[in-house]
Amino acid sequence: MTVHTATCTAPVNIATLKYWGKRDKSLNLPTNSSISVTLSQDDLRTLTSAAASADFQEDQLWLNGALESLDSPRTKACLADLRALRAAVESADASLPKLSQYHLHIVSENNFPTAAGLASSAAGFAALVSAIASLYELPQDMSELSKIARKGSGSACRSLFGGFVAWEMGALEDGLDSKAVEVAPLAHWPTMKAAILVVSDDKKDTPSTTGMQSTVATSDLFQHRIHEVVPKRFEEMKKAIVNKDFETFGELTMKDSNSFHAVCLDSYPPIFYLNDTSKKIIKLVHKLNELEGHIIAAYTFDAGPNAVIYYDEANEAKVLGTLHKYFAQVQGWDKKDASALNGGVDID
Ligand code: PMV
Repeated sequence: MTVHTATCTAPVNIATLKYWGKRDKSLNLPTNSSISVTLSQDDLRTLTSAAASADFQEDQLWLNGALESLDSPRTKACLADLRALRAAVESADASLPKLSQYHLHIVSENNFPTAAGLASSAAGFAALVSAIASLYELPQDMSELSKIARKGSGSACRSLFGGFVAWEMGALEDGLDSKAVEVAPLAHWPTMKAAILVVSDDKKDTPSTTGMQSTVATSDLFQHRIHEVVPKRFEEMKKAIVNKDFETFGELTMKDSNSFHAVCLDSYPPIFYLNDTSKKIIKLVHKLNELEGHIIAAYTFDAGPNAVIYYDEANEAKVLGTLHKYFAQVQGWDKKDASALNGGVDID
């Protein structure tokens, strides 16, 4: 039996300017552009292997060791696009094996809790699209591939790139201009660090698609956010990244997280993703920045209570030490050495 295989990884990306709202649900076209930072491969990532063989009887997917359905319209849309691109290559070169006609076996593993507001679907669909694109030997044009990953999960389009990434919402109805582009590679700002405080690894309360639909349909504040607030922030945040201006980047990141959670609260019925621990983390970061006299740490929260804290490496001991002092119970500290955790300051 001949089996063709390829393996790829994709890291999680954490939005600093949030995507929240779809103008087209089946194509995953957003109501606003967004910006994110892709974490490094050593942090949270999905590892996916794809195999194609004439002997496989059906498409199958194993996620973290368990057989999963491939029936979701989103996964089907990704597979159909990738097969169509491969079929075009095969029709131009008759010597190529007809992989587009073979069934696929896909094995995918996350090194973090699935669906806990840690953007597992972003890394998942990005790794799936990368692995199959590599198996099919398609051109590695990440913006092009991002349009396919976007159909799996909107935020997945941003995980095709490392570093600082923008998802341009586009204006076309068919979504051909709704794609991820690089703002700057990770190497541009290597001292930028992210700490993830896992407040809870439960499955999230309201899935993002349901939450977005409800916000779009019921929140008045949402209109202000997408028309007035985000377009301005999109340009300002890109500039802050290019200039490595942590102060501006941090302020915009925190304000945008708050704006996103505000439109969730303004939905009817309201959607709550933050819990009491999340709110305590927000207060602590503000107090720390106040004591320092400028912004050295910035929080952001996705569709769940877990915090991501951005900081510059130069302030690592102070930021992590302070968070550790007050939130030693959250997961993940074991990865850090004691010297990074002992530099905390006393708040109040
Ligand atoms: O791509 P989805 O459907 O998982 O939605 C992601 C939504 C947020 O994580 C809250 C924001 C974002 O831009 O990633």
